[in-house]
Amino acid sequence: MSLVGGIRLMGAYGEKGCVVTGLFVVFEGADGTGKSTQVAAVADALRHSGKEVVVTREPGGSDVAETLRALVLDPATQIDDMTETLIFAAARADHVAKTIVPALDSGKVVLSDRFVGSSIAYQSAGRGLSEDAVAEINHYATGGLNPDLTVVLDLDPAVAGVRRDDRGDMIDRMEAAPDGFQETVRGSFLAQVQAAPDRHLLVPAAQAPETITSQILTHLETTYGVKL
Ligand SMILES: Nc1ncnc2c1ncn2[C@@H]1O[C@H](COP(=O)(O)OP(=O)(O)O)[C@@H](O)[C@H]1O
Ligand SMILES: [Mg+2]
Repeated sequence: MSLVGGIRLMGAYGEKGCVVTGLFVVFEGADGTGKSTQVAAVADALRHSGKEVVVTREPGGSDVAETLRALVLDPATQIDDMTETLIFAAARADHVAKTIVPALDSGKVVLSDRFVGSSIAYQSAGRGLSEDAVAEINHYATGGLNPDLTVVLDLDPAVAGVRRDDRGDMIDRMEAAPDGFQETVRGSFLAQVQAAPDRHLLVPAAQAPETITSQILTHLETTYGVKL
């Protein structure tokens, strides 16, 4: 989304004359870096200061997208890389249309656990599809909607792996990827921050959870004018 005189206009939605007034913040990083923990903590803090907050996640965040999530993360399913990319994008299109845009339209803060950055990291850097193709497919799927801010939680994959194991969830299809995949994913997120530093906040995720939350909130206050 582009900032035009303080009003954000999006590609396809903007063309329909729709001015989006909310704030769209995405949390990215490999599994186990603390995304869900931070989404919940930031949502709590924002709600405490009277903001209307929608917490959502990808893949998922709408009925159709949650159905696609079950399919695409099932370790028993075999999916080729292009199909995987298109399923994530299809889920994202529904998520944007049914959940994110309506919330932003009504002035809410949307906090999403993953978005397009994950497709660049996993399907392009990780699986090896062309970055231009993945970006194009997703630009089309989202109608050109970009987050106002993407928080990237950066952590040594070995530490993230221990956290995932401690959490005790089943390993999903994306986490079951070969050795080196998580390091590649991490490198892609770091490259995405470098390519657009004004739209990202890079946070070292080995810090205490409360420290990370306060860094994110401070950034929202100082750079996005969010009053806490
Ligand atoms: N900053 C942190 N330091 C130590 N452990 C953490 C931190 N943030 C989260 N955790 C723990 O690590 C595990 C993974 O965190 P989670 O938020 O589920 O990560 P993600 O959503 O990125 O997969 C959870 O058990 C969580 O309680
Ligand atoms: Mg999570």
